[in-house]
Amino acid sequence: MKTLLVVAAAVVATFLTIAQFGTAGWTRPPILAQQHGFRGTGMDQIQTKAGAAALKAANVAPDPAEPVEQGTDKAGATYQNVQVLKDVSVEEFNRLMTSMTEWVAPEQGCTYCHNTENMADDSLYQKKVARRMIQMVQHINTTWKEKHVGEAGVTCYTCHRGQPVPKNVWFDNPGPNYKTAFTPRNNGQNLASPSVGLASLPYNTFAEFFAKKDVDQNLIRVNATTALPESKGKPIQDAERTYGLMMHMSSALGVNCTYCHNTRAISNWSQSTPQRTLAWHAIRMVRDLNGDYIEPLTSTFPPNRLGPTGDAPKLNCATCHNGQNKPLAGAHVVETYPELTQVTAEAGAAPPQEPAPAKEPTPAPAPAPN
Ligand code: HEC
Ligand code: HEC
Ligand code: HEC
Ligand code: HEC
Repeated sequence: MKTLLVVAAAVVATFLTIAQFGTAGWTRPPILAQQHGFRGTGMDQIQTKAGAAALKAANVAPDPAEPVEQGTDKAGATYQNVQVLKDVSVEEFNRLMTSMTEWVAPEQGCTYCHNTENMADDSLYQKKVARRMIQMVQHINTTWKEKHVGEAGVTCYTCHRGQPVPKNVWFDNPGPNYKTAFTPRNNGQNLASPSVGLASLPYNTFAEFFAKKDVDQNLIRVNATTALPESKGKPIQDAERTYGLMMHMSSALGVNCTYCHNTRAISNWSQSTPQRTLAWHAIRMVRDLNGDYIEPLTSTFPPNRLGPTGDAPKLNCATCHNGQNKPLAGAHVVETYPELTQVTAEAGAAPPQEPAPAKEPTPAPAPAPN
């Protein structure tokens, strides 16, 4: 009897071991470890070779459209209703229309934004949104060039990837309303949510950290900087929210916490990597884009595009990054689209029904050293 049990247990153990190899969630070698931080600190990035290759293959920038002859006619003078790209040559303008179609609506074509009976017509919301998106891209590639996107820059494809609605957008998330439960609200936490890496952390972090630009610059900081308390500390909920946001930033970039922090002293800037400073600016950039470009489009979007509380679909780190530390593996995507690397119209040249023109952001202050 005893021998039989031992044999049975051995068989079960063997099958379980084999099953483990085939099931999801088990990371198969070979592993790719890259030293990223200072020597000896163990600030390594760990990936599987297969995972890294799959990520690379899923993030290839499309080839730019064929260059065109430069004519002298300007789009603003040739067409009836060009408000943003007025000073772009007709040839360059049409090249951009073709590329925009490929980047945003390859299946739907020009009709996604245009009433083809009259190309000047602005009746489709998609065209109005797209006009503001052109301005947003110009703003990213100019104002945020040095602080974040660098020579790589962004085009519509960085976020859209051939889809009218980018894969990663977010809405204000009021959470479930359990009418019959003991407490109807769960206080915005204890619900496995993808926004915080399925941890039971507060899940409406984007609305708090990414929606507006006028939030407290120290909102995310929670670590004490002195051994003994010298002022009133922050509640534990603030620390949880910060961790929730950090989960998003890590997963959006496909990196560990050690990509930016030396985890022996998380808050210390002098022990952090240069990427943390880029990330600091990125947080400000995301607030700026959501606040000045996306939010004002709320009334332009049809109701079926809005979130549960009626807010516009907004962007976060994952919208551009899509799981890579540099979007599209750092490809320089705007080099051959000069019209996207300069502001070609006053920021306020948006359609009249849109509220107040965007103002130039005040340059963000450098992160405070500890
Ligand atoms: C993603 C949305 C979008 C797609 C797709 C798109 N366009 Fe446009 N188109 C616009 C916007 C926005 C403007 C206005 C630009 C401005 O105000 O500077 C415009 C303006 C135009 C105009 C000027 C019309 C006028 O008289 O004012 C022409 C011509 C045009 N597009 C052609 C095309 C063609 C051809 C295609 C398909 C290959 C296309 N567009 C695809 C958004 C789009
Ligand atoms: C930084 C990211 C980002 C970039 C770059 C970007 N977009 Fe968008 N776009 C968004 C987000 C977020 C939305 C809102 C998603 C939705 O409509 O549900 C959006 C929505 C749109 C829509 C409306 C789609 C719909 O049917 O609701 C159009 C059209 C559009 N973008 C065109 C463009 C064009 C054209 C460019 C390049 C000039 C561009 N976008 C660049 C993030 C981006
Ligand atoms: C892409 C870079 C990046 C990654 C990855 C990252 N962080 Fe951060 N972290 C930052 C930045 C930038 C700040 C400061 C934000 C600010 O001051 O507005 C910060 C702040 C923090 C703080 C608050 C520090 C203080 O001053 O009180 C904590 C705690 C923290 N991160 C933990 C983590 C954890 C845990 C992870 C991994 C899950 C992580 N971070 C991943 C960039 C990053
Ligand atoms: C509008 C698109 C866009 C958004 C949104 C965005 N980034 Fe980036 N990010 C880029 C581009 C483009 C680069 C590559 C810059 C380069 O190659 O010089 C980059 C680079 C980085 C890098 C440097 C990576 C490295 O390996 O050196 C970090 C860190 C980073 N981003 C963090 C973030 C964080 C955190 C967020 C959200 C708070 C964010 N980004 C949002 C476009 C974006």
